[in-house]
Amino acid sequence: MISKVTAVAPANIAFVKYWGALDIERALPRNVTISMTLDRCVSRTTAAFEEGARDADDIAVVDDAGVSRAPSASFRDRAQRHIDRLRHRARRQGRFRIVTRNSFPMGAGIASSASGFAALTLAAWRAMGADAGTSELSILARESGSGSAARSVIGGYVEWPSDPLDPESPASEIAPASHWKLCDVVTVVDAGEKDVASVDGHRRAATSPHYETRLRLLEGRLAAVRGAILARDLGALGPALEEEAIELHLVAMSSRPPVFYWKPGTLCVLEEIRGLRRNGVPAWFTMDAGANVHVICEPRSEREVVERISALPEVRSVISDGVGEGPRFEAEHLF
Ligand code: PMV
Repeated sequence: MISKVTAVAPANIAFVKYWGALDIERALPRNVTISMTLDRCVSRTTAAFEEGARDADDIAVVDDAGVSRAPSASFRDRAQRHIDRLRHRARRQGRFRIVTRNSFPMGAGIASSASGFAALTLAAWRAMGADAGTSELSILARESGSGSAARSVIGGYVEWPSDPLDPESPASEIAPASHWKLCDVVTVVDAGEKDVASVDGHRRAATSPHYETRLRLLEGRLAAVRGAILARDLGALGPALEEEAIELHLVAMSSRPPVFYWKPGTLCVLEEIRGLRRNGVPAWFTMDAGANVHVICEPRSEREVVERISALPEVRSVISDGVGEGPRFEAEHLF
């Protein structure tokens, strides 16, 4: 018998970032992180599980705007290892067929590992008939090796790990999406694949002379970001967001060998955001491991931010996203 499940999991943008690990394979972070789960940037994954069939014949397919193709070798290897791990955990034998499609254009430079591995975990786990609560699913998603996937199984504002003394602990909710309707204007200045994968960035982080200083500063920043979310205070959140983004890139640029994610377009967008603020528009930037910029603002400023940012010649595309409710299951399948 074949059991088929489709899960939709969102990407998330980190407000306090996971950078550098205690264990990279298992994605055990050195510090607590905070993120906002997105709404429109999602991965949709259908997993079909055929109980008893030979599991050597698993098939994973990426569906890019209706065109099916084989995934890249690195994605296929990671996905295969993750499927094997899930099957082992659920004590099941059988073959998977997996198809995944992103709502955002592939190669748009938006981190898809968080949404992709969260959706794969949710779909595969349920297709095997296995049961789990959110905390267990967060841990299972993190074990894919994508730490940020641990946060994508929860909506709204999320903290991971939930116990600062236990890097194996799951993500947990700080506040639901309804608490504060923040927008994220995702600004793509470079649609190409980044030169250094985040897994290599994590590996190099501790070689930066600034890494330990960053870890020391984080306690205060985590409290500031948590407090600003709970108080819905963008004036307090914004500066902490920007400091945090710059610090991640400072550590990356001063690692050995250095990692440069910024492109000329990145600086143009940052300049424009500062200009917007001088004109009284409260908008603040953050960036993950890449050249693209996430502009965080409230709904009343979103239109102006989108108009001003889209007008920059260095900007290739803009996606108006915002805080979302988290993953869901759908009755309609991809195959
Ligand atoms: O989840 P990973 O292993 O792809 O690492 C994510 C790294 C950042 O996106 C830069 C930060 C984060 O916390 O999402």
